[in-house]
Amino acid sequence: MKLMKQIWDKARKDKKKIVLAEGEEERNLKASEKIVKNNIADVIIVGNKDVIKEKAKKLNVDLTGVEMVDPDTSEKLEAYSNEFYELRKKKGVTLEKANKIVRDPLYFATMMVKLGDADGLVSGSIHTTGDLLRPGLQVIKTAPGTSVVSSIFMMEVPNCEYGDEGFLLFSDCAVNPNPNTEQLAAIAVSTAETAKNLCGMDPKIAMLSFSTKGSAQHENVDKVREATKLAKQMNPDLKIDGELQLDAALVKEVANLKAPGSEVAGNANVLIFPELQAGNIGYKLVQRFAKAEAIGPICQGFAKPINDLSRGCSSDDIVNVVAVTAVQAQSIK
Ligand code: ACO
Repeated sequence: MKLMKQIWDKARKDKKKIVLAEGEEERNLKASEKIVKNNIADVIIVGNKDVIKEKAKKLNVDLTGVEMVDPDTSEKLEAYSNEFYELRKKKGVTLEKANKIVRDPLYFATMMVKLGDADGLVSGSIHTTGDLLRPGLQVIKTAPGTSVVSSIFMMEVPNCEYGDEGFLLFSDCAVNPNPNTEQLAAIAVSTAETAKNLCGMDPKIAMLSFSTKGSAQHENVDKVREATKLAKQMNPDLKIDGELQLDAALVKEVANLKAPGSEVAGNANVLIFPELQAGNIGYKLVQRFAKAEAIGPICQGFAKPINDLSRGCSSDDIVNVVAVTAVQAQSIK
């Protein structure tokens, strides 16, 4: 992906410190070596140092320049426990419980980001999306002005005339099972920012539905229509339209028939799905049938960047997600 080279270059210009919570896992070790050798970010890996060194030796991975942190022996454990307790005591967490929870590498790495010992976190090669997101949602919380954490996929579709010559963003395909009107609007607004800041796009956002401009009546259609209005109120500069069916969003001829006069219909390069089942199925359909490259899920809306990996990821995928996370960290004030 051409964009990924630009993201690597951007990451190198203002190097950030990214923590990999699954530091004992082989692909993470291989990725750490590549990230450091390619000067993309400073890397911290979390895990038992003896286990890490043993595995690295077996894999012939050079971890020179990679920082290792073991929660059980870290001098930061007490500070992280105290902070976690303060953050979660209203939810019934005791200090004793906090001390136990932050020894979990995912929570430990999240606390590193929270307290500024790392600029961003990447994990998920051996954990589910929910396992990774929950500590982030509880501790890092949302960025100012955003109420919802969501995600995007960068889709690069070969030999495709839709979007920006086959490049599109899809959202939300990984986080919010059933967003309400406000959440759907917030997802659209966040995705527009990601499109501009991370991908250098001029976002044209289609709010997808099974209806185009009133062709069908249903409460699910109303939700998309209302969310479109709300997103426009939240950011009047957005190029956004909805509700649109997928063909009206992408295909000029269909757009001319179903949504004439729309600046988005027929030109959309950002697709917002109405709920997670549609989004998750949608990106996988394009990935498999069109042999598209799908990079993500990239999280958006966190106060500091946290990103998920697919459990089927390669070490190269981890390098790319770390580069994306580093670039996201550059825009955190
Ligand atoms: N944005 C902001 N805050 C949120 C969000 C969100 N999207 N979702 C939950 N929260 C907050 C809650 O308000 C809560 O805050 P609090 O504890 O301070 O009050 C905290 O996060 C935890 O909320 P829970 O309700 O305990 O968390 P939940 O069990 O709902 O889990 C999660 C949230 C993990 C995001 C869940 O919605 C989920 O599992 N989503 C689907 C993930 C998934 O499986 N995706 C598909 C696979 S990914 C792929 O195929 C690439």
